[in-house]
Amino acid sequence: MSRKVVILGGVGNGTVVAAAIEHARRMGATDLEVAGFLNDREEVGKHLDLFPVIGKLADAPRLLHEGYLFINTILRIDGNRERIALFESLGIPDDRLATFVHPQAYVAPSVQLGPGCVVMPNVSMSPASRLGKGCLMMAGAMMGHDNEVGDFCHIAAQAAVGSYLHIGKGVHIGLNATIREFLSIGDFATLGAGAVLTKNIPDNEIWIGNPAKFLRYAH
Ligand SMILES: CC(C)(COP(=O)(O)OP(=O)(O)OC[C@H]1O[C@@H](n2cnc3c(N)ncnc32)[C@H](O)[C@@H]1OP(=O)(O)O)[C@@H](O)C(=O)NCCC(=O)NCCS
Repeated sequence: MSRKVVILGGVGNGTVVAAAIEHARRMGATDLEVAGFLNDREEVGKHLDLFPVIGKLADAPRLLHEGYLFINTILRIDGNRERIALFESLGIPDDRLATFVHPQAYVAPSVQLGPGCVVMPNVSMSPASRLGKGCLMMAGAMMGHDNEVGDFCHIAAQAAVGSYLHIGKGVHIGLNATIREFLSIGDFATLGAGAVLTKNIPDNEIWIGNPAKFLRYAH
């Protein structure tokens, strides 16, 4: 029997993650089945790519009661403090978050994924990294070994994340960015697309370029 999962979010990360789950389901590689989206900006009943909007975020407690699992995809590139608070206000317990690994990803056996993590196709994750809850590893992202990653981080497609890193919570690593080993990235920080990080990023800062430098503070 399939486990029904509701995606918090919509066009963007939400539809991308939903499509990957459906792709895996059609391959017989997951027992998760997407029921639809919760989205405050779209009309209930409207289809976003393959699946309908089935309610607003405020409907989460009811759907929790009805037995659904959840995946959160509502993250920002520029500071995630409010988005995480919004998710936490819904009261979804960890054991009702679905963790999804697409069958075309490589995840070393010793990698620990928190509840609600998503690992998209062509991701590679080397041994002994630990991810908190609700992290998204998008298509083709590469993670080295022995990393500590906080909750609700978004590692965009094709990012190359080194090893022995400490990455805080709500961090966005941009498309195709590269991170040298032994660095730390603070909570709610952002590394821009294509950046090459060679120094630590403090909390709430956005860095860009090669070598990456401070651009501005996150919202
Ligand atoms: C870093 C980022 C958040 C900054 O956004 P922003 O504050 O709106 O920045 P702006 O577009 O106003 O650009 C400000 C300046 O920084 C430069 N800049 C912005 N992003 C840059 C990047 N990734 N690399 C190099 N330069 C960049 C701009 O060219 C501009 O320079 P200028 O003032 O000389 O013209 C954004 O550009 C970025 O890289 N986002 C990540 C994209 C991504 O990973 N998407 C994943 C899809 S889910």
